[in-house]
Amino acid sequence: MNNQDAVNTNRTIQITADGSHTIAVPDLNITYHSKYGAIQESRHVFIQTVFKYFLNLDKIETVHILEIGFGTGLSALLSLNEALQLQQKIYYETIEPFPITMDEVSVLNYVERISQNLHDEFLLMHSCAFNKDVIVNYSFSFKKINNELQNFQSTGKFHLIYFDAFDPNTQPELWTKAIFEKLHKLLYNNGMLVTYCSKSIVRKALLAAGFSVEKLKGPPHKREIIRAVKKD
Ligand SMILES: C[S@@+](CC[C@H](N)C(=O)[O-])C[C@H]1O[C@@H](n2cnc3c(N)ncnc32)[C@H](O)[C@@H]1O
Repeated sequence: MNNQDAVNTNRTIQITADGSHTIAVPDLNITYHSKYGAIQESRHVFIQTVFKYFLNLDKIETVHILEIGFGTGLSALLSLNEALQLQQKIYYETIEPFPITMDEVSVLNYVERISQNLHDEFLLMHSCAFNKDVIVNYSFSFKKINNELQNFQSTGKFHLIYFDAFDPNTQPELWTKAIFEKLHKLLYNNGMLVTYCSKSIVRKALLAAGFSVEKLKGPPHKREIIRAVKKD
């Protein structure tokens, strides 16, 4: 069975240490998030390390975010929740070649743990058509792209990239200089890419693609994560 078949046909929902769900793909021995806490990890990596950090440096009317791997929608939901609290507008574009089913979405416990008020918004992000702009609410515009990152083309520019592909052992084709060069071009100057993986091959590929790379403290049980900045 190849990776694509495994991700599409053999997924299970599991509880992580902070009580929030993740999805596991047993055939590939991977999970969508840290087993030590899915919400805890996503808040640390995406919300604290780039979203809030970036907004503290720069006031921007609408922050443009690109996520690689929509998956469970957890990072989108956390970003929407933060947007409402900070009264910050977001345009959120996300790539997902292997969407999860609405049956799986209905089991996930993110809304009850993040904000009960966002139940309809969470379902809308999962159920809406691909490749169409959707107004999720007054703070949050959204578009899902049903494509692989390797084939993704965009004329848009972004302030932040949440790089949340499966790890380099599972998907070595996504952690390359060529892919990071493509993402570098999609960022505004001073824009940032963040990823949970700080392996040396990843740092080297990001540096070769022209990023400035910082290693930062990871969430519990993860020593380091990477924030990479585009400096022209
Ligand atoms: C580590 S999971 C993270 C998902 C998501 N950010 C979340 O919080 O649930 C990786 C995601 O990347 C998606 N993916 C797999 N191959 C991809 C590709 N070639 N391009 C973009 N995304 C891909 C997977 O289907 C999966 O949803």
